[in-house]
Amino acid sequence: MRLHRGRRAAWRVTRGAATIGGMTDPHYTAPRLVALYDALNPFAADTRFYLDLAASTQAAHVVDIGCGTGLLACELAQQGHAVTAVDPSRAMLDVARRRPGAGQVAWIEGDATRLGALDADLAVMTGHVAQVFLDDAGFVATLVAAHAALRRGGKLAFESRNPVVSPWTTWTPQQSRRVIDDTQHGAVEIWQQLVDVQAGRVRFDTVYRFTACDDTVVSTSELRFRTQTELSEALRKAGFSEMEWFGDWSRSPVDETSRELIVVATRG
Ligand SMILES: C[S@@+](CC[C@H](N)C(=O)[O-])C[C@H]1O[C@@H](n2cnc3c(N)ncnc32)[C@H](O)[C@@H]1O
Repeated sequence: MRLHRGRRAAWRVTRGAATIGGMTDPHYTAPRLVALYDALNPFAADTRFYLDLAASTQAAHVVDIGCGTGLLACELAQQGHAVTAVDPSRAMLDVARRRPGAGQVAWIEGDATRLGALDADLAVMTGHVAQVFLDDAGFVATLVAAHAALRRGGKLAFESRNPVVSPWTTWTPQQSRRVIDDTQHGAVEIWQQLVDVQAGRVRFDTVYRFTACDDTVVSTSELRFRTQTELSEALRKAGFSEMEWFGDWSRSPVDETSRELIVVATRG
């Protein structure tokens, strides 16, 4: 990761350590940004969806790929599921390991290829993890690793933002600005600025203004937006057969207005 100190204590943070399918985003590696992750991504309808899926499929063993700060992994563990959680970011895992229930989770630092054959019942990739894989080879390699971690008949569930509705059009300072009150850093003003949209890849800056110390951090990210057809093809290449699709967290079917492409795929 490179940090450029600019005028008036502004920092630019660019991409960090290499891992399967690309690089780890500064949001997940820079400790000051990682500390804000949970306030920006609290328990919500997506968390409920994956908890309900684990319960309804009676998944004894759940694998959480790209588990981040471990909100879902620890909730699952506290509800009696055996959980293996993997993430390449040590900073994210440091937060995860301090959560209630963390002692019941097997944490692995690395990408999905570290999992091996676990005979798991359910694998999940939540929080749009699927979109961090910019190239198809890295994405398919991760799906293959998820496939290997599952038992026959086990399920893989994840979501990806639907490019058909161009969700990035609201990634402007005016429409994305928000303020969070962080216990460590005080008030932090946050907004996004779209940089570039090309061939299914969206580049954008996230600006964090730490008002108490008058510091500004600009983190540049890139995400891949795959269509439902592209996601299906990648899943098939990795060996998944049946797929159930939803367009939102209340399990509506996918249509041209759906903001999410949520899939539950079965290992044949
Ligand atoms: C947006 S966060 C999602 C975290 C968590 N699943 C959630 O729902 O809040 C994306 C996560 O993907 C992780 N990640 C990045 N590259 C990865 C890779 N190659 N394999 C697995 N996880 C990866 C990041 O470290 C980060 O924790």
